[in-house]
Amino acid sequence: MGTASVIIFDVYGTLLNISSPVARLSDEIGPQADRLSDLWRHYQLELLWVTTMTGKKISFWEATDRALATAMASVGLSEREGLKDALLDAYRAPEHFDDAGPALSDLACKGYRLGVYSNAEETILRPALRSAGLEDLIETVGTTAESSGYKPARSAYERCAHMLSVEPSEAIFVSSNAWDVAGAGAAGFLAAWINRNGMPFHHQDSPAFTVTSLSALASQFEVG
Ligand code: LAC
Repeated sequence: MGTASVIIFDVYGTLLNISSPVARLSDEIGPQADRLSDLWRHYQLELLWVTTMTGKKISFWEATDRALATAMASVGLSEREGLKDALLDAYRAPEHFDDAGPALSDLACKGYRLGVYSNAEETILRPALRSAGLEDLIETVGTTAESSGYKPARSAYERCAHMLSVEPSEAIFVSSNAWDVAGAGAAGFLAAWINRNGMPFHHQDSPAFTVTSLSALASQFEVG
């Protein structure tokens, strides 16, 4: 993995499982659960990206809340009493992927500086990482909140490099979100894709590295 000594991780979808909030309430939701989860994520990202492109502002949490309302309406669940609040509560403490903790510990032991860089504001991000038991494994917790746009805007990745005092080409940016891998790569990071589902990569430039899990990623790094 070259001479990089800094590894930055995306959070939602990469370290934390964004299907887990809906999965936790799937008995109550019924057969529309998977579709609700997909639409929630879809509308959330759309809101973040549209506000970035139009120069408007919205917090990650407001986007998450609005996206859920729209997703629930799309599958006919708007009237289900208490469901929206229960899902938002679950989203505040998503489950982590099983190999997240061991992979971060392994990389930290090997001497790498570890950071996260997420579109979520710190007031949402830190409690989520804490409840997943990951916060103490991460040296730098960064968010796009103070950049002029959400990932994958180039300015967001430039801020990330600045925050860590690294040249993008000296750092590895890890994400399971293909759009985030494309953005990090376009900004000059060594982009690593966690491709858990064996999907083709549909963006223009291939990732610098592709692995199927966080543990597979960690095992590729030597002592730094
Ligand atoms: C993150 C989500 C949006 O930035 O993937 O953590």
